[in-house]
Amino acid sequence: MRKIISLAAISLLIIGGWWIFLKPQDVAEQSNTTEGAAMVEVVLPASFTPQEQMGETAFNAKCAACHGINGAGQDGIAPPLIHKIYEPSHHGDMSFQLAAMNGVRAHHWPFGNMPAVEGVTPSDITNITAYVRAIQRANGIN
Ligand code: HEC
Repeated sequence: MRKIISLAAISLLIIGGWWIFLKPQDVAEQSNTTEGAAMVEVVLPASFTPQEQMGETAFNAKCAACHGINGAGQDGIAPPLIHKIYEPSHHGDMSFQLAAMNGVRAHHWPFGNMPAVEGVTPSDITNITAYVRAIQRANGIN
C-alpha cells in the first residue's frame, strides 16, 4: 500500500512538473513565432517632428529591413530597437552612430552580427535616432 501511495505521489510530481514547465499553451506559443514576425507591440506617438519624419524615411530605407517597421524587430532577423535594452541610458545616441558606421558584433541576441550600413551619413543617423527615441518614449522607454 505504501508503495502505491508513493508511486502515486511521484507520478503526480512528474505530471505537475510537466504542467508547470511545458504547458501545452507555451508549446503552442512557441510554434506560433514565425521568422520575420514583429517581436514587440509598438505604440506610435501622436505626431512626429520634421526631424523625426526625416528619420522615419531614412530608417525605413536603411534599417527596417532588419529591425522591422517602427523598430518592432523581426523574429529570427534583428532585435526591436523599441526595447528597454536600447533606452538612452543603456545605449546612448552614440551607439546608433557606431552601429551604423562599424556594425555590431552580436552580443545581446542570437541573430548574428549587424553589418555596417552603407550610404547613411551621421546626420541621417541623428535623425533616425530622434525617430527611434520618439517611439521609445511613446512606449514608456526613457
Ligand atoms: C542586416 C541587418 C541589420 C540592418 C540593416 C541594421 N541592423 Fe542594427 N542590428 C542588427 C542586429 C542583428 C543587431 C543585434 C546585435 C546584438 O546581438 O546585440 C543590431 C543592433 C543594433 C543596435 C544596438 C547596438 C549596440 O551597441 O548593441 C543599434 C543601435 C542598431 N542596430 C541600429 C541600427 C540602425 C540605426 C540601422 C539602420 C541605419 C540598423 N541598425 C540596420 C541587424 C541590422
